[in-house]
Amino acid sequence: MFSLFVAGLIWMALLAVVTQFSDIRLSLPFVLGGVGIVASLIGIRFKLAKWWGPILLLLPIALGTSLYFPVPPWVYLACFAVLVIIYWNAAGERVPLYLTNTRTWATIETLVGQDAKKFADLGCGVGGGLLYLGRQHPDMIITGIESAPVPYVISKLRVRLLGLENIHIRFGDMWTEDLADYDAVYAFLSPEPMSRLYQKVKSEMRTGTTFISNSFAVEGHEPDDIVHVDDSRKTKLLIWKF
Ligand SMILES: C[S@@+](CC[C@H](N)C(=O)[O-])C[C@H]1O[C@@H](n2cnc3c(N)ncnc32)[C@H](O)[C@@H]1O
Repeated sequence: MFSLFVAGLIWMALLAVVTQFSDIRLSLPFVLGGVGIVASLIGIRFKLAKWWGPILLLLPIALGTSLYFPVPPWVYLACFAVLVIIYWNAAGERVPLYLTNTRTWATIETLVGQDAKKFADLGCGVGGGLLYLGRQHPDMIITGIESAPVPYVISKLRVRLLGLENIHIRFGDMWTEDLADYDAVYAFLSPEPMSRLYQKVKSEMRTGTTFISNSFAVEGHEPDDIVHVDDSRKTKLLIWKF
């Protein structure tokens, strides 16, 4: 949002100069389109995550469009409801939905593929990684636990469509899952739940098992190993061996 604000100021200053010295007058769609372009350039310059690019570009244009074509209030309500069932855990758990990339899943596969017979992804999102592992290791029993309705349905459907019987997607809360059953547990959450989650994995997981956290550390508990993934976001996998 800060990028949009700065982009608005830069673009307005530029237009003020242009209109001062020429007859050029831009209509509102071009004014807002310009703000979007400047905002996404700012996003690129400050290395925001890639998905911010289209958001920063399209947001001002969507605003302009809504001025020309008034949108009924229920559309906003419907959009809000859809966002809530996708980003269910963003407010309560402070864990939004973002996805582990394929390179990282490939690295996780090299770490657990040989030894783990039972693998769990706590908060499995749309299930991409589980499908990746499930296809590579038909003998591995893979469980995804997800409490946000839309990601759960998407992951469940993906598993059904591919007919992978070694993958089980459960709708539920990871805090109530007994982790004693798993050889390897993976989580890509946020800094917020890490301390509580570490207490849980430490007290429930058996000796000889592995816990992997994508990116998020646990204060006061150094991992046994850190694996650096060669991807664009320079992912770090923090690994604890119990
Ligand atoms: C950052 S996403 C990671 C998705 C997937 N694991 C991946 O790496 O691609 C975190 C997911 O955890 C889910 N989540 C957060 N808290 C949860 C909880 N208490 N129980 C189950 N799922 C939870 C969120 O809904 C979200 O889909």
